[in-house]
Amino acid sequence: VRLLEGVRDLAGLRLVVSAGGTREPIDPVRFIGNRSSGRQGIAVALAAAHRGADVTLVAAHVEEGVLATVPDGIRIAHAGTAADLGERMTELAGDADVVIMTAAVADYRVANVADHKLAKEDGAPSLELVENADILKGIAASRRDGQTIVGFAAEMPTADETVIERGIRKRRRKGADLLVVNEVGWEAGFERPDNSVSIIGPDDAVVAQASGTKREVAEALLDAILQLRGQ
Ligand code: CTP
Ligand code: CA
Repeated sequence: VRLLEGVRDLAGLRLVVSAGGTREPIDPVRFIGNRSSGRQGIAVALAAAHRGADVTLVAAHVEEGVLATVPDGIRIAHAGTAADLGERMTELAGDADVVIMTAAVADYRVANVADHKLAKEDGAPSLELVENADILKGIAASRRDGQTIVGFAAEMPTADETVIERGIRKRRRKGADLLVVNEVGWEAGFERPDNSVSIIGPDDAVVAQASGTKREVAEALLDAILQLRGQ
C-alpha cells in the first residue's frame, strides 16, 4: 500500500501492459476462452498512469464495462487471438521500458477452424489443437538493455510443488525479470475485486507479497519494478 499519494515516480517510463483473455475461434460463432476479467491488468495500467508512466494497454477480451474505467491518457490497443496479441505486444515492446503480460493467453489455437457454423447434424467436431507461441518468452529473449519484463501466473499447488516453487520454475523458463504468482481454484483469483500475490525476482527470491484490491497489488508490483530497476 502506498503511503504517499500523488507521487509521479514512474514519470519518463514507457510501459506496455496486456490485459484480459484471448479467444481462439472454433467456428464463426464459437471460441475457446478463459476466465480472465482483465481487471488486474487494467489496475496496473491505471496505477502506472497515475504515477506518471506513459501507458499503452493492450486489451484482449475483458469483462463488460471495465474498459470504460480507463482514462483518456492511456492508449488502448485491442487483440482477439493469441496471435493478434503476440503481434501487438512484440511491436509495442520494441520501445517500452517495462512490459507486463497480465493477459491470460490461450496455450493452444484450433488448427481446423470451421468456415461455417458447426451443427450437430455434422456430428461431434474433432478440434485439432496447435500450441501458440509464447509471447512473454519471445519478448524476454529479445529484450534490450534496461528493459524490465514481467509475467503473471495463476497456479495451483500440486502433490510435489508449492505455488511458489512452480512460479520459480516458470519465471526461469520464461526468462522474465519478475513473475507475479497467485494461487487459484474455482473459488479464488477470478472474477473477484481482490487478489493475493507473491512476486518472484531474478534470484528466485520472493521480493514482495501483496494482498488486497487489484489496485493495491498493482501498486506493489510497480514498487517492485522500480526497486529492481534501481530507481
Ligand atoms: N504467456 C504468453 N504467451 C503464451 C502463454 C503465456 O506470453 N502463449 C504469458 C502470460 O501472459 C503470463 C505468463 O506467460 O504472463 C505465464 O502464463 P502461464 O499460462 O502461466 O504460462 P505457461 O507457460 O503457458 O504455463 P502453463 O502450462 O502453466 O499454462
Ligand atoms: Ca498457459
